[in-house]
Amino acid sequence: MKKIAVLTSGGDSPGMNACIRAVVRTALFHNIDVYGVERGYEGLINGEITRLNHRSVSDIIHKGGTFLKTSRCPEFKDLEVQKRGVYALSAYGIEGLVVIGGDGTFRGAKSLSDNFGIKVMGIPGTIDNDLAYTDYTLGFDTTVNTVLWAINNLRDTMHSHDRVSLLEVMGRHSGDIALYSGIAGGAEYILVPEVPYDLDEIASSIRKSSLRGKTSNTIVLAEGAGDREEIVQKLKEKTGINVKVTVLGYIQRGGSPNMADRVLAAKFAIKAVEMLKNGENSSAIGIKNNKIIAVDFEKAFSEKKEFDKELLESARILGL
Ligand code: ADP
Ligand code: F6P
Ligand code: MG
Repeated sequence: MKKIAVLTSGGDSPGMNACIRAVVRTALFHNIDVYGVERGYEGLINGEITRLNHRSVSDIIHKGGTFLKTSRCPEFKDLEVQKRGVYALSAYGIEGLVVIGGDGTFRGAKSLSDNFGIKVMGIPGTIDNDLAYTDYTLGFDTTVNTVLWAINNLRDTMHSHDRVSLLEVMGRHSGDIALYSGIAGGAEYILVPEVPYDLDEIASSIRKSSLRGKTSNTIVLAEGAGDREEIVQKLKEKTGINVKVTVLGYIQRGGSPNMADRVLAAKFAIKAVEMLKNGENSSAIGIKNNKIIAVDFEKAFSEKKEFDKELLESARILGL
């Protein structure tokens, strides 16, 4: 393979830039020309493609977001629209593509591969950690640490006032950001979409703990696990407590990638480019039990993600 391209798609995540850099430099090392597609699939269908060299990716390893930019491009689900992207690639003689994004991005990648014969390697780049075939997605670790910073700050003020805090975090349908930041931040209650919860029981637990002398509590709510205002209202009715709400929002999606995500970015990129170089089948790259893996897209979608319920349950014990 002589020419490949790289793009980022869907929600950005910390480490995408480090990953693009590693794709570019690995490709150039193997004497493969490398192109950047701007704005994900949107840029692909509009032919926003430029040649990248070593210097194009200088000084981006530490930056959050993605210098290639990203987009949500719903029309890309249409085969006729995908065809425009395929023409754009062929106009440059590009035979292989590295896409960095989440499950939606991978569905686009699978279609480009199945329907148009383009070799596509998918690198899981999303803060949500919602892909079952890989233990970690790129950006998750940095995001969890940003959330942890927020929990630490909230604890300072909530503890000083004997208050109950509810922090809403992202994750779409996944509770992993809430779970890992909650455990690391010492949250007593972690509400996730994967496991049902009972607000009566939580209210009674808060009341009982206050009788034992516990004056402050932290609740971490995954955005997919319920309506924060309803939860706060119900807790107020049941306990009389005014729960103080913080919605962290996009702050948790930006920021400099940490060591774990930069190293993961490099490992994923090296694997993706080597697979393209060797003419291997289109695959989703991942990490399982600390080993870099490649599975076909179908398998990547069909696996059901296991949620760590035991870890979730430990929050109550550890927060007593
Ligand atoms: P993520 O990749 O983080 O899951 P999205 O769900 O927004 O983010 O998906 C990114 C993009 O992938 C979409 O905007 C769309 O262009 C493309 N995409 C999503 N689903 C499909 C699909 N079923 N077929 C083709 N392309 C898709
Ligand atoms: O997939 C990443 C993510 O940040 C989710 O956690 C969140 O639900 C969503 O993207 C927000 O989407 P948008 O980029 O459209 O604001
Ligand atoms: Mg997604």
